Amino acid sequence: MNIKNICCIGAGYVGGPTMAVIAQKCPHIKVTVVDINASRIAAWNDDDLNNLPVFEPGLDTIVKEARGRNLFFSTEVDKAIDEAEMIFISVNTPTKTYGKGKGMAADLKYIELCARQIARVSKQNKIIVEKSTLPVRTASAIKSILENTGNGVEFQILSNPEFLAEGTAVTDLMLPDRVLIGGDTHEEGQKAIQSLVDIYANWIPKERILTTNIWSSELSKLTANAFLAQRVSSINAMSEICEKTGADVNEVSKAIGMDSRIGSKFLKASVGFGGSCFQKDILNLVYIAKSYGLNEVADYWEQVILMNEHQKNRFSDNIVSTLYNTVSGKKITFFGWAFKKDTNDTRESAAIKVADNLLNEQANISVYDPKVAVERIYADLDYLNTRASEENRELLAVSSDPYQAIHQSHAIAVLTEWDEFKGYDWQRIYNNMQKPAFIFDGRGILDQRVLEDIGFTYYKIGSGC
Ligand code: UDX
Ligand code: UDX
Repeated sequence: MNIKNICCIGAGYVGGPTMAVIAQKCPHIKVTVVDINASRIAAWNDDDLNNLPVFEPGLDTIVKEARGRNLFFSTEVDKAIDEAEMIFISVNTPTKTYGKGKGMAADLKYIELCARQIARVSKQNKIIVEKSTLPVRTASAIKSILENTGNGVEFQILSNPEFLAEGTAVTDLMLPDRVLIGGDTHEEGQKAIQSLVDIYANWIPKERILTTNIWSSELSKLTANAFLAQRVSSINAMSEICEKTGADVNEVSKAIGMDSRIGSKFLKASVGFGGSCFQKDILNLVYIAKSYGLNEVADYWEQVILMNEHQKNRFSDNIVSTLYNTVSGKKITFFGWAFKKDTNDTRESAAIKVADNLLNEQANISVYDPKVAVERIYADLDYLNTRASEENRELLAVSSDPYQAIHQSHAIAVLTEWDEFKGYDWQRIYNNMQKPAFIFDGRGILDQRVLEDIGFTYYKIGSGC
């Protein structure tokens, strides 16, 4: 099928940037991104590109070029579904918070709602593309809904998992290591795969477009995220040994990363990984393994999450013990709240857990993050339900200026690796803090020697020196 009209359901961190790049690279295809959230769509349509709901370096330029030409953001879901020959489903699939599989399985209710809506509206054959990360065999559930509630229309289901990382989404979409497309092995399935291959082939070399059966594609996404997260947990496990033995985890990372069999990426010790995918996808994998009775496999992967929790907890424990075993009433400034630099996304950010632990110890926290909105920070804490939301607002303040944020602080904790932190006037910061002035660098980005020369007591994750 020669695709001229695409619809994407879900204008989030994945749907928005992915469709913007497809529209930019394929001016001959009309791309409509729809969402039930009207204010999100309004933000995507805002004249001021600083107000786009997703912050990604370079995204504003692409939206500026394609929006109104062949890229549209709309709340008219039925209309866009009806018009499109190919529909991407890019809605969120959070971990279930209720019932069977609570805390582990992916909640597929939005996916199912989308499938039912597509079935209801469609009058012509369509290709449905799963963009959301899904448990293996979700495609068969979508197919069954479409076939049993549809109007005799034929649907082909493809799995096309997204591998973009937030903060580098635009580059990842422009120059992906690979694009993965899974589909049925019969003739119609192969034709559908070809239609999607043809779209990507507008800017991606053919040898980087991989086609597989649908289950392999779905499982590959979970596996990729599990392997990446496992590397972070592995290096974080080593970071604790380094701190005890006097080794430096950065030196260890460099030494092992030069082994081409290991490779250098995803070996940066941190205060713990966050983001919407790693934890959710591993929990999903664990749930799938358990449901097949594969308990050893489940335990193996679960350990990656347990290590990550430990890393966050030991970071806050270290702050408390270093500050003479009490942080009650002490001001601690957080530099960064996002789960990594160059994004305004905070889902599963380590900062949330570290803050919660310190608030339990009655610390006063002051937060500065260059991109995260104040309401987001409070919403993240309120979501934990650890204490009343008024108390969260009493104990934690958000500042829009780093120098104001640190005023009279006992300690600074670096939670996100924003580049701007490195260029601060650290002497000025030191002068305005309580003494002794402590820095807990959860990302290992600051210059230890410079800070110690100024007078700071500096702790770097994974350094026992
Ligand atoms: C994506 C993927 O879909 C998820 O599976 C993956 O693991 C992480 O990335 P993301 O784009 O980050 O999710 O999610 P989010 O930013 O929450 O966007 C999803 C959007 O879908 C929201 O704007 C929501 O309003 C919309 N939505 C949800 C619908 O339009 N319809 C629905 O029925 C449900
Ligand atoms: C991840 C996958 O990389 C991407 O392919 C998939 O599509 C979605 O999930 P994302 O969560 O956006 O992307 O960011 P990523 O760069 O993978 O970082 C995840 C977390 O790991 C962040 O909190 C980051 O700070 C942390 N991390 C990453 C480390 O602590 N150390 C590292 O060496 C790398």
